[in-house]
Amino acid sequence: SAPLKVALLGCGVVGSQVARQLIEQAEDLRARIGRPLELVGIAVRRLEIERPGIDRALLTDDAFALASRPDVDLVIELLGGIEPARSLILAAIAAGSSVITANKALLAEDGATIYSAAEDAGVDLYYEAAVAGAIPIVRPLRESLVGDEVTAVVGIVNGTTNFILDQMHTEGTDFSTALVQAQQLGLAEADPTADVEGFDAASKAAILASLAFHTRVRLSDVDREGITGVTAADIAAAKERGCVIKLLARCSLSADGSIALGVHPTMVAKAHPLASIPGAYNAIFIESRNAGQLMFMGPGAGGSPTASAVLGDLVTAARNRVRGGLGPGESHYSERGITPAGEI
Ligand code: HSE
Repeated sequence: SAPLKVALLGCGVVGSQVARQLIEQAEDLRARIGRPLELVGIAVRRLEIERPGIDRALLTDDAFALASRPDVDLVIELLGGIEPARSLILAAIAAGSSVITANKALLAEDGATIYSAAEDAGVDLYYEAAVAGAIPIVRPLRESLVGDEVTAVVGIVNGTTNFILDQMHTEGTDFSTALVQAQQLGLAEADPTADVEGFDAASKAAILASLAFHTRVRLSDVDREGITGVTAADIAAAKERGCVIKLLARCSLSADGSIALGVHPTMVAKAHPLASIPGAYNAIFIESRNAGQLMFMGPGAGGSPTASAVLGDLVTAARNRVRGGLGPGESHYSERGITPAGEI
């Protein structure tokens, strides 16, 4: 049967992995979807860069033309940042494509525009890879727990800072050396300020809180502090108290229906499950009325783990197209008051 056409926007650490997996796993993906996938183009900023294993003929620097192609079924946006990603996603939706994105900054800044456009056009929008890399967390909140009442989401949602803090604790590595190591592992954002100043974690907190509490939370609503001020003396003081310092994203629902939100370096007692999450791993702890306590843990950053989440979304969206179904959709949102998360 005719292939479903896939356009890829961005070919960095994650995008190049997705492109390779689409080729290497083509047979398995075809079997799981019921139709083959055909990668028809990859939009890149710089055509001249050597990309091993990727056919140069697929590359284009005209992302807009690729995203708007009416014959394309599925558009994967992995450029990151607000623009041109937002315009490209809106163009893809307008052309009737299903959209898969890992763009936490855009969803936290202006998710409402993207969600409404997808709803109005009746196309799928999936974004599992936007939060905590390979860990399935968007789908559990959006689908599995949507009939429950989530009351708290607490997590380590940035691999770079968790890696840096872990190195500082276990190896006595200084902050700058540990940051370079995180960059070499492909964990950090292109501009690591987003990681170390807590913006990346705050974007993820905004997305998680929006899903968990059926409201709209934006990056600017999240009280935020990064880890650049964490010193060797702070690490030693934490150790002395039987704690470790973790960058925690905390979102909780109050009895009055408002929510408290914050991302801060936090002392975590060694006995707490979040204290032992190592290196680039992420973990998210959820409390809900009926399900009780749940914990999700796994690789939160890096090319292959994040590509795993993108490919999961791709298969799901492709299956929906084959069977004529539509994905989970967005909740009808309610307005909520927001306060900074207080002392732990
Ligand atoms: N820079 C991010 C991190 C990548 O370190 O977690 C995954 O979003």
